[in-house]
Amino acid sequence: MSKPFSVKQSLALLQQIIDQLPDKRMVAPAPSAPELQNSLDVSLNSQGSDSEQLMCAAKAYLDYNPDVSQVAFFKLLYSGLNTPALLGDWVTSLSNATMHTYQVSPVATLMELELIKQWNSLVGFKQGDGVMVSGGSQANLIAMLLARHKCCPDAKTKGLQGQTLVAFVSDQAHYSSLKAANVLGIGSDNLIAVSSDDQGRLDPECLETAIQAALARGHTPFFIGLTAGTTVIGAYDPIEPCSLIAKKHDLWLHIDGAWGAPVLFSQTHRHLLAQSQLADSVTWDAHKLMNVPVTAAVILVKQAGLLRQACTGGGGEYLFHSDENEVYNLGERSIQCGRRADALKVWMSWKSLGSQGFSDKIDNLFDCKTHCVEQIESAPELVMLAPAVYLNVLFRYQPSTELSEQQLKQLNIAICKKLKVQGTYIDYAQYKGRTGIRLILANSLCQRSDIDDMLQACISAGNEIYAQADG
Ligand SMILES: Cc1ncc(COP(=O)(O)O)c(C=O)c1O
Repeated sequence: MSKPFSVKQSLALLQQIIDQLPDKRMVAPAPSAPELQNSLDVSLNSQGSDSEQLMCAAKAYLDYNPDVSQVAFFKLLYSGLNTPALLGDWVTSLSNATMHTYQVSPVATLMELELIKQWNSLVGFKQGDGVMVSGGSQANLIAMLLARHKCCPDAKTKGLQGQTLVAFVSDQAHYSSLKAANVLGIGSDNLIAVSSDDQGRLDPECLETAIQAALARGHTPFFIGLTAGTTVIGAYDPIEPCSLIAKKHDLWLHIDGAWGAPVLFSQTHRHLLAQSQLADSVTWDAHKLMNVPVTAAVILVKQAGLLRQACTGGGGEYLFHSDENEVYNLGERSIQCGRRADALKVWMSWKSLGSQGFSDKIDNLFDCKTHCVEQIESAPELVMLAPAVYLNVLFRYQPSTELSEQQLKQLNIAICKKLKVQGTYIDYAQYKGRTGIRLILANSLCQRSDIDDMLQACISAGNEIYAQADG
């Protein structure tokens, strides 16, 4: 039976784990789930184990997890290591604070309020409020909840009572709005995917047509969800024309900036999200471009007080006491009871880097993006599949115009697989029926030379695979 160890002993074990980390871990460890299951014992038993076994498990855990801190991890919307945030994450676990009441999270509450103030100021919500959430998906869910509350306040207590509410997003929106429509009783069939234009942006004319069609069916439009930085190609939906449509029909206007909102830090590139203040709510993930360890995200709301109205209910008998700190109890703005104090790690990293640090990082990544697009456009074997206005680059290896879409798809999937084994983790994605390689630039350490290496690796792998298939 193991003895519980002290915080200091636990810290010593962590130190050992860090000391034993190899200089370079695998960016994309290869075992399949069945292979890993066969080689690793994750069983739990009635008898406890000693710290030696825990150390082995921790080592295996790190060995087999993709090392997302490396520049060669281009696969997802996060990459890199934000050490002040990591420190904040460790301290958060040490405190085990939970964010429902000020009493049990005093400093984290003040930090969360400061973050919300800063985020609102970047977005342009002068009197806004907000609350931190478990991720962009929950933020989008809360936005839809607020829209439902604004449109049908009785739905909170009585349900939808036979009304058909209809929400609108672009056909490039993240799948979390589908989940939100499901969870909120809207029904995923009542989430309309409005066509996007050739740049992947929601088309306002199609939006107006879709709203008119819903009205003609006797349904109740209530929500428009725009995206700032779409998941596959990084497109920014047009805010101003959609805001006019939202005003005309009295609809909630939300911006999902889970990936693209941090562009507001950069004086050079914030124009992509100019007019964000026209929205009613904005989703912002700190665990994507800001590189804060997952999870860290926020829903920002222009009209202060609405979150509390829509989310509050229960808990007064034991938790939310009427005391001098009552207004600081963030739990009443949230759909969660226990909520991790994610504020500290975001605050620590913002304090350490300053807003300028995030701005510099974003400007450097834009420079890498521009370089990447130039290189792709000058390489005869590579083709861009979509405009790259943000930090996503969707391209493919296309050695011949003779190949069918299916052949090109297989070829580019094979390139991703080959690169993974070689230590570059990129993924493939589909956009408007064409499949290519989706490169995500999120790691502050990325340099032009990393882009050159990655593209060269794609071309070499492509040439090899194509030659084999041809021969
Ligand atoms: C545009 C967009 N919105 C929302 C999400 C969901 O965010 P999360 O993973 O934090 O729930 C994602 C995730 O990739 C996204 O790309």
